[in-house]
Amino acid sequence: MKIAGSVALVTGADRGLGRVFARELVGRGAAKVYGAARNPAAVTQPGVTPIALDITDPDRVARVAHDCSDVTLLVNNAGVMKASPFIGAPSLDAARLEMETNYFGTLSMCRAFAPVLAAGAGAIVNMMSVTSFYTSPLDPSYGASKAAELSLTNGIRMELSRQGTLVVAVHASFIDTDMAAGIDAPKISPESVARQTFEAVEAGEIEVLADERTRTIKSQLPHDHELIYAPLEQIFFAPAEGSG
Ligand SMILES: NC(=O)c1ccc[n+]([C@@H]2O[C@H](COP(=O)([O-])OP(=O)(O)OC[C@H]3O[C@@H](n4cnc5c(N)ncnc54)[C@H](OP(=O)(O)O)[C@@H]3O)[C@@H](O)[C@H]2O)c1
Repeated sequence: MKIAGSVALVTGADRGLGRVFARELVGRGAAKVYGAARNPAAVTQPGVTPIALDITDPDRVARVAHDCSDVTLLVNNAGVMKASPFIGAPSLDAARLEMETNYFGTLSMCRAFAPVLAAGAGAIVNMMSVTSFYTSPLDPSYGASKAAELSLTNGIRMELSRQGTLVVAVHASFIDTDMAAGIDAPKISPESVARQTFEAVEAGEIEVLADERTRTIKSQLPHDHELIYAPLEQIFFAPAEGSG
């Protein structure tokens, strides 16, 4: 589909990657861009229409789908990452919040907007992560929620093929936003992710592997235990000197 003339809705459009997605859509000539955010007052990009939306609130999701019934391109960008381990976390709170937002919130948006998109086929972009297909020791329970989001993305692609809706999965390693602010590692710019994403939408491609690390890790999956997990275990979980 063409971005020019489309009507897009971006979740989490107040900051980070969502803010850049919305700006890029305006720049590429989208006819209308809804910038959805928990705090719509923070959606200040020129040409973007602010909409109040918490994706974990099903009533609000339904209301927004009703009010924005002209949407042809849904960009599910909103997400949370609590950098929480599975065993060492004090409770399940972080894991539940990540699953509630990244999986159930995204699923609820896809379900609400599927009939809206049906009118003109349209497209859905789900913003995921390299941790959708491998478990990082830096953010394990986040990875579980992104893996669940990948599963739903593959599932809705099949279910929505009947109505011709393109479903694009976008995966990236570290992106230079608040979410990765505490991480000292190479980061891709949000502008590059946005550019690659909308080029994929226009080309009808179903997957974006936005950076080299994401492409490398995906290519290693057939040998993930040897190439990915064993080295990570050595780096992050090697027994302390003298123990055992
Ligand atoms: N940064 C990275 O390294 C990285 C890497 C790969 C993938 N991603 C993914 O990229 C997407 C954007 O992340 P980012 O880097 O821009 O992170 P960010 O700077 O932390 O922004 C996250 C955005 O999601 C919104 N959000 C969180 N929970 C929400 C909810 N329940 N309802 C509506 N909006 C909600 C936030 O809104 P508030 O302002 O209200 O909190 C904010 O706009 C996420 O899906 C993330 O998982 C990020």
